[in-house]
Amino acid sequence: MPTRFQTADVTSTTAKARDGPQEVVYKSWDLLIYEIWVLGIVSTWAWGCGTDAYLLPQFRANVGKKHHLDIGSGTGYYLRRGGIPAATQLTLVDLERPALEIGLHRSGRAGDARGIVADILQPLPVEDDTKFDSVSMYYLLHCISASVDAKCGIFAHIKHNMTPDGVIHGANVLGKGVRRDNLFAKHIRHMVLRDGIFHNEDDNAYEFEHALRQNFEEVETAVVGSVFMFRAARPKY
Ligand SMILES: C[S@@+](CC[C@H](N)C(=O)[O-])C[C@H]1O[C@@H](n2cnc3c(N)ncnc32)[C@H](O)[C@@H]1O
Repeated sequence: MPTRFQTADVTSTTAKARDGPQEVVYKSWDLLIYEIWVLGIVSTWAWGCGTDAYLLPQFRANVGKKHHLDIGSGTGYYLRRGGIPAATQLTLVDLERPALEIGLHRSGRAGDARGIVADILQPLPVEDDTKFDSVSMYYLLHCISASVDAKCGIFAHIKHNMTPDGVIHGANVLGKGVRRDNLFAKHIRHMVLRDGIFHNEDDNAYEFEHALRQNFEEVETAVVGSVFMFRAARPKY
């Protein structure tokens, strides 16, 4: 499949196809800093959930063999390091077109992956009937500016894009019901909330797990440090 961009009007679910990728300026220092700072230092020392120790192994264990969908692909870290089989068709979704372009590039699969610019709070604007056997969403939910209810609504619509044995997996930083922040975490949490990077003050494990159980037959969750990790399989249609 050639690289294909599809842009959804993020205020509606109407999809409009676009021509090939535009020129992107890759800011490799930004990406390096994001990966060292956010996925390395902050994940481990503020949120208590090392990416290499917990998140990457979960991604690797659950990535599908046929069609994988990564939502909120960002820098494409998991796509590069997540051991996605060469034969697996890859689809990326992100609200931001530049992020999508970087994710596609860094996945090393720019030649055969597809990118969709869309707001995942809305049903996925796919133009074909592709069903994904795996869906990943890492460090996405805490970035979405919406109520916990609206975030949980993602599970109710994304399951319709999944195969009957499909698996959804991911992780996000919680805002409620977690261990007391250490000084570093307190500082980081203050900054990311103040700067509008995190929108997770009400995010809690109970509501996310409940929403997963309403929409999937098999649900496994864990809170590691301040991070909610989840894996759910077999959508309830
Ligand atoms: C913190 S980054 C996570 C990147 C990557 N998954 C990781 O763990 O390194 C969150 C990404 O989600 C995207 N995003 C935020 N809100 C979104 C939404 N409503 N729909 C789709 N993508 C969204 C952002 O543009 C950003 O690229």
